[in-house]
Amino acid sequence: MEEKKAVGYRAASFVEEGMVIGLGTGSTFRFALEKLAERVQDEGLRFLGVPTSKDTERKARALGVPLTTLDENPVLDLTLDGADEVDPQKNLIKGGGGALLREKVVASVSKEMIVLVGENKMVDQLGRSFLLPVEVLPFARRTVYNELKEMGCSPFLRTGQDGEPFFTDNGNFIIDCKFEGIEDPEKLERTINNIPGAIENGLFVGRAGRILVGKEDGSVREIP
Ligand code: A5P
Repeated sequence: MEEKKAVGYRAASFVEEGMVIGLGTGSTFRFALEKLAERVQDEGLRFLGVPTSKDTERKARALGVPLTTLDENPVLDLTLDGADEVDPQKNLIKGGGGALLREKVVASVSKEMIVLVGENKMVDQLGRSFLLPVEVLPFARRTVYNELKEMGCSPFLRTGQDGEPFFTDNGNFIIDCKFEGIEDPEKLERTINNIPGAIENGLFVGRAGRILVGKEDGSVREIP
């Protein structure tokens, strides 16, 4: 918890007056959002945020963080977001919370994506332990599942606590894929997105700018 707070608070310090920023999703980003709300109150900081999930939108509204949309602001100065795994080339797996599609759209139009993680998210190779999420059109869930299986992974339809399929904010399903390590993230990102009905996957290749790595002692390491 300490490392999430440290890294979230540090991330909030990168937001400058007048910026339009992408607001990520997840338990680490939540601390950045809290700190940003504090800066609005205490310093009168003015900025606008585009939320990457309904959850973040709700939290931002509750905290009084001013929001906008990509229709109004299609280019963003910065995005702050968490990740599930980060490799030495700064490639990421995201989507543990199911928000990967909007997260990738927002990252793609940001001048920089600053990634907020704890040391435990830093890995030598993506996909050895974390499952790769794929957002799938419900109509094509069986056919995409079959294609993913043919590619050599073990796919699982994500379900909620009630055992029913998990729905994303976009009304789609998530299939989580177990790989024994991902050799070529760039190729895999393209290959999966080429499956009809696979809308987006959680590989973020070449999108991360600075990585902020939080430690239990409350210190933060910055990877440029
Ligand atoms: C949301 O879908 C994800 O991409 C999150 O950004 C990621 O799972 C990190 O979340 P935590 O900060 O909660 O670990």
